[in-house]
Amino acid sequence: MKLILILIILNCTILKEKKENNQIAILGLFALNQRPVSVSADREAYSGGDATSFDTTSFAFQQQAPNMTDEAKQLAFIQGHAIFTTSWVSPGNAGNPGLGPTFNNVSCNGCHAFDGRGRPNVGTNQSALLFRLSNATNYGEQFSPNSIAGVQNEGTFTVSYTEQAGTYADGEAYSLRVPTYTQSLNNHGSPSGVLVSARIAGQNPGLGLLEAIAEETILQNQDILDSNKDGISGKANYVTDAKDNKTKIGRFGWKANQPNLNQQNQGAFLGDIGITSPLFPNENCPGTQAAGNCGLATNTGRGVGVPEINQISIDRLNSYMLTIAVPGRRNWKDSTVVRGKDLMSSIGCTKCHISEFRTGTYPNFTEISNQTIRPYTDLLLHDMGTGLADGRPDFLADGSEWRTPPLWGIGLIKSVNGHDNLLHDGRARGFAEAILWHGGEAESSKENFRKLPKSDRDAMVKFLESM
Ligand code: HEC
Ligand code: HEC
Repeated sequence: MKLILILIILNCTILKEKKENNQIAILGLFALNQRPVSVSADREAYSGGDATSFDTTSFAFQQQAPNMTDEAKQLAFIQGHAIFTTSWVSPGNAGNPGLGPTFNNVSCNGCHAFDGRGRPNVGTNQSALLFRLSNATNYGEQFSPNSIAGVQNEGTFTVSYTEQAGTYADGEAYSLRVPTYTQSLNNHGSPSGVLVSARIAGQNPGLGLLEAIAEETILQNQDILDSNKDGISGKANYVTDAKDNKTKIGRFGWKANQPNLNQQNQGAFLGDIGITSPLFPNENCPGTQAAGNCGLATNTGRGVGVPEINQISIDRLNSYMLTIAVPGRRNWKDSTVVRGKDLMSSIGCTKCHISEFRTGTYPNFTEISNQTIRPYTDLLLHDMGTGLADGRPDFLADGSEWRTPPLWGIGLIKSVNGHDNLLHDGRARGFAEAILWHGGEAESSKENFRKLPKSDRDAMVKFLESM
């Protein structure tokens, strides 16, 4: 009798909590979230505005925006997700042929598992870490470790780490993992003066909302000459849009080197998997590779200029990427989390990780249009100091500049991907290490963090976990 009563009380508490947080658990992918839009008086938890999901399972990064009611778009979401998880096979095989001639991985999902964050491996075998190259004659702008039968791959990269000791102002010790990337690019000649940028696959929620922010809105935070003398001088990247060969503001990638999801997605198909598309119809066989077996292995026998993936599939993938919901905040009313949030602004983090934006009107996608969002990014480039520098320029980004990454959803990487590796190459193990790597324009806010008492540092980590 007593036990039953306790169970009933427990049950009521759970129900009450759910109601208070306006959470509806969505189990599994594609479960339609029927939560009425704009029910909460306080929108703090709705990081993606009406395109916020409250799923906290391993599917948290691939939920459909709950305000998407159009059936055609709901179908495109499912179809686009299927394209994202498709494993490509070598030309001539059954299934989805077209892989290679050279490639990094066989599917989008192979790097962005569950639309989430990848992690680096010690040694030569990487799944989610890629290397961008400059001055690498015959290797192009991205290293390809793998190739289909009969085609030579490009060589190897070896990842190793050394530990670098440091201390907080209160004497507590920490250690940072310093990466070394050793190249042996020698299958197509041995170029000298090669510049290398190691980059890890990031999580995909909310990218459509970031694309829907108007360029003028982003530029309002730009301060190239640091005229307000706060030590922070955000700068927009400007990159080539291959569709019309015009210069556009960069938004995606660790150095904001891609102007929109359409180009990012088709670029990933070619550069990462070796799948040609309407925007990039030619196989990736740079320099002398074009004259070898790489150049002969064109387009799955479909003929030169006929891409391996067609426009309809690209449209579905783009529609999917545009409408992935942002995870809502958890425990955001918790007093420690609130203290962590206040510290974010008082020690200067939110000068770059800007908390709030309003999206503009995005053609044909009301779901992501005119939303108040809380991404904690400015989408601008910042000098982050020599510790994080890769020394490889990328359009207007120099060798030490990186785009402020959004922090929304970051607290769920562990639930989705089972690890806590952060930063552009996954070197940081957890939030504190990620912060301790900040330098350059972020040096003073990093130092403020280092000098905080432990309870305050922990509160900031609690805040990041609630994102
Ligand atoms: C080899 C691993 C790998 C594969 C395969 C891969 N990606 Fe990525 N993806 C990355 C990395 C690394 C980045 C960051 C690139 C950069 O900063 O230059 C990235 C960036 C992105 C971004 C921009 C994210 C942001 O936060 O700005 C999108 C969108 C994306 N990938 C989609 C895709 C799609 C769609 C596919 C399949 C067609 C795909 N990726 C395949 C590794 C991969
Ligand atoms: C000058 C701008 C700037 C300031 C100030 C700043 N950040 Fe960052 N933050 C960045 C950039 C740029 C990166 C990406 C660096 C990289 O990957 O090499 C980053 C990365 C991060 C990451 C890892 C994100 C990811 O997706 O891997 C976290 C967490 C973070 N910052 C938190 C903070 C906190 C907390 C503070 C305040 C102590 C802070 N940042 C201050 C610009 C800034």
